[in-house]
Amino acid sequence: MKILMVCLGNICRSPLAHGIMQALIDKEGLDWQVDSAGTGDWHVGQAPDRRSIATAKGFGIDISGQQAQWFQSDMFDRFDKILVMDRQNYRDVIALAKTDDQREKVTLFLTEGEVPDPYFDDTMFESVYDMIAVQAKILLKTWQSEQQEEKA
Ligand code: 4NP
Repeated sequence: MKILMVCLGNICRSPLAHGIMQALIDKEGLDWQVDSAGTGDWHVGQAPDRRSIATAKGFGIDISGQQAQWFQSDMFDRFDKILVMDRQNYRDVIALAKTDDQREKVTLFLTEGEVPDPYFDDTMFESVYDMIAVQAKILLKTWQSEQQEEKA
């Protein structure tokens, strides 16, 4: 399974989703891959926002080695699941899709609603972390069940 987490800048939300999912994958001993990207290119090559790094560190997850990437069309074919944090991300990614197969890979990260952008509000990072951590566990379990059904 190859998973891509997407937000706007790839420095606040999707690096958290990437790091949290990586930690779950490691814990479960799965051979899955996870990466992240942004629909905007302003922060390409940069490490995650220091507030995301600090928040993840508080939960024992080191995301400081990540580097922001810009979402590219070839990522539709390089990943099986593309999870976007909000509806604007969804619109921006879908606009680049060329086939139904590509469009079907793209879903909102949360089952209901959006992961809000914490960039302009220091106090939001903790709650953003919490909502991503809860949903990451749900997604991992869902995909594990999917894979088991496919094998059966
Ligand atoms: P992210 O947050 O999409 O969660 O990485 C943002 C980061 C940077 C900007 C906006 C949102 N920005 O405007 O530079």
